[in-house]
Amino acid sequence: DRADAAVEVGPEAAAQKVKIGVYFAVWWALNVVFNIYNKKVLNAFPYPWLTSTLSLACGSLMMLVSWAVRFAEAPKTDLEFWKALAPVAVAHTIGHVAATVSMSKVAVSFTHIIKSGEPAFSVLVSRFLLGETFPVPVYLSLLPIIGGCALAAVTELNFNMIGFMGAMISNIAFVFRNIFSKRGMKGKSVSGMNYYACLSMLSLLILTPFAIAVEGPKMWAAGWQTAISEIGPNFIWWVVAQSVFYHLYNQVSYMSLDEISPLTFSIGNTMKRISVIVSSIIIFHTPVQPVNALGAAIAILGTFLYSQAKQ
Ligand code: 3PG
Repeated sequence: DRADAAVEVGPEAAAQKVKIGVYFAVWWALNVVFNIYNKKVLNAFPYPWLTSTLSLACGSLMMLVSWAVRFAEAPKTDLEFWKALAPVAVAHTIGHVAATVSMSKVAVSFTHIIKSGEPAFSVLVSRFLLGETFPVPVYLSLLPIIGGCALAAVTELNFNMIGFMGAMISNIAFVFRNIFSKRGMKGKSVSGMNYYACLSMLSLLILTPFAIAVEGPKMWAAGWQTAISEIGPNFIWWVVAQSVFYHLYNQVSYMSLDEISPLTFSIGNTMKRISVIVSSIIIFHTPVQPVNALGAAIAILGTFLYSQAKQ
């Protein structure tokens, strides 16, 4: 893959590898913390559309303040930039809400097991919608990915259709988001960090009216004052933590996407899910059957095979 080949040769190759390694480690660690607080918030306040809006709002605010105090330099953008960003933002919004809805219905680990199938969606979208073809081993590597996810899904103790579909929709939406993002960032002066900041802001604008329409009346009817008074002051900190960590992990992931191909990004993302699956099972005492864990392990092994086949 061309974007990766560029970093494999030359005297700066080692330094570049270390830099990507550090980005990946930080990205995964931030993501684990996000997932834990996100689930705590959803357990106490089951309004995934509203909480995903809050995450975007918090990130947008953090970046506006960073630009205002010159902690980060604001990007120079034109109408063309925002037009090109629109489809990325639609895909980001759908993928984000769908994943959050999924996590409000099922265990965090289950959402991430299904989301570890993302490389398979990447191949299917590239093949059927973009007309790209791949060598036979790539297609063969999809079998353990899809089979492993399927085995994990049918043996999941707390299976829920909305939870399953949310994770699947998120997979498809994020494949498009990553392909469009990489195209949008290519040759542009906007850095990965600022690109993600603009993406958050546009997604926030798209999501806010839908979130209010979908969950506003429900929350009103349930009596939000009682909901909030019952939750207690810690809840505010959980919301702050999930929102801040959501922004930071995505920002770091875009800083790495700036330097790697969408394929390497997808694989890094799947590896990230191993840490999320393991830590969330420990923290939330999620019951796991051996056959269920076997399904997850096969799916993740499939991703390793896929990355080898792609090279
Ligand atoms: C979200 O809320 O956007 C999801 O948790 C994102 O999942 P991912 O970044 O791990 O694909």
